[in-house]
Amino acid sequence: MISKKMAAAIGDQINRELYSAYLYLSMADYAEQEGLKGFSVWMQKQAAEEVTHAMKFHAYLGDQGARAALKAIDAPPAKFASPTALFRDSLAHEKKVTAHIHKLVDLAVAEKDHATQIMLQWFVTEQVEEEATASDILAKLERIGDDPRGLFMVDRELAARGAGGH
Ligand code: FEO
Repeated sequence: MISKKMAAAIGDQINRELYSAYLYLSMADYAEQEGLKGFSVWMQKQAAEEVTHAMKFHAYLGDQGARAALKAIDAPPAKFASPTALFRDSLAHEKKVTAHIHKLVDLAVAEKDHATQIMLQWFVTEQVEEEATASDILAKLERIGDDPRGLFMVDRELAARGAGGH
């Protein structure tokens, strides 16, 4: 059994993961409008992955016989400055998510809640990967600058995520 405080904190994280999915869907729509289908595919895959994160937390609460109030999900921004800004915003967002995951770990440690600490390890590792991926793509886009040929090359690469790439 986990504490009510821990369950509520996990509930807030479920909300953040679903917001993340919403944010990536909005980014996918922006990319689609810009004619960048590969960016859009990548963002849709990311949105789906965020839903699996929310489901993982939700399943954990269920396994612990706990329940958290499900709150309203904020609307994501509808506009983005540029294709490069998508990954700049994504990296900034993932850093915030990482900080929240670390706070959850701190709470689990403070409560001597070993089971939750172990469950959270997966997310700690996942966040390292998510930040690294966003950071790599951002670096590539920043090198390309305004070169449309470079942008379409990255777009093709991002489309490959649908074929099992990351
Ligand atoms: Fe679920 Fe992008 O962290």
